[in-house]
Amino acid sequence: MQQHEVTALFDQQAANYNSQWQNMAPISQALYFMMTPLFSKLPSNAHILCVGAGTGNEILHLAQAFPTFSFTAVEPSSEMIKVCKHNLTQAGLAHRCQFHNGYVDSLKNLMPFDAATAVLVSQFIVDEPKRVAFFADIHKRLKAGGLLVSADLSANQSDKTYPMQLSHWLSVMSSAAVSPEQIERVKLAYENDVALKESQVIENIIAESGFTGVYSFFQAGLIKAFTAVKE
Ligand SMILES: C[S@@+](CC[C@H](N)C(=O)[O-])C[C@H]1O[C@@H](n2cnc3c(N)ncnc32)[C@H](O)[C@@H]1O
Repeated sequence: MQQHEVTALFDQQAANYNSQWQNMAPISQALYFMMTPLFSKLPSNAHILCVGAGTGNEILHLAQAFPTFSFTAVEPSSEMIKVCKHNLTQAGLAHRCQFHNGYVDSLKNLMPFDAATAVLVSQFIVDEPKRVAFFADIHKRLKAGGLLVSADLSANQSDKTYPMQLSHWLSVMSSAAVSPEQIERVKLAYENDVALKESQVIENIIAESGFTGVYSFFQAGLIKAFTAVKE
């Protein structure tokens, strides 16, 4: 998928995004549970760059867990960022957030950030050098010692158990009220539109962008999360 197609897809999904994925909340909650201790090492006035913030789910969690942090949400879909602003306003958190409808490279705020998140974002960049550039843009925006937390779909599609893993994953997703037609679409999307890479490949991409100390700290089904630092 080209970037404008990804944005158009999320523009369409924005209004129903949270309800569509509501049944996957145990996985998001487990991911947030696992990533929270990484953020607890940051200074109390930390400013977090949330790339591909979507409807604001990870900001909502982090803002509640760390009441003195502030956030910059970067989101290219104008519909997703509208929902993000709405959700964070409803939660009484919008005054701690800035919103940028665009990409990291067009972000005007040049103050370096203490940490960045990119939850289920880089998987949409199928061209590998562009995926490295995506993380390099984040790396540029962090302070020395800054933290990265990124999560993506990950699998080894040539593994002989991949069909079983995929079927298992799709049945997990179908309990999230996804129709059989939608499941078929997801299957095709994983083959063509999503950069579903094995863990080691994603770690190498993150390392190539300039980060060090890359390791995976979470997996649930096909979702895998990584952390790294800017030296
Ligand atoms: C699957 S959603 C995840 C949203 C949110 N992080 C969450 O976990 O609920 C992916 C989001 O990344 C955004 N996105 C896609 N490509 C991006 C890019 N190159 N830079 C920043 N955001 C991007 C999409 O518009 C979409 O809102």
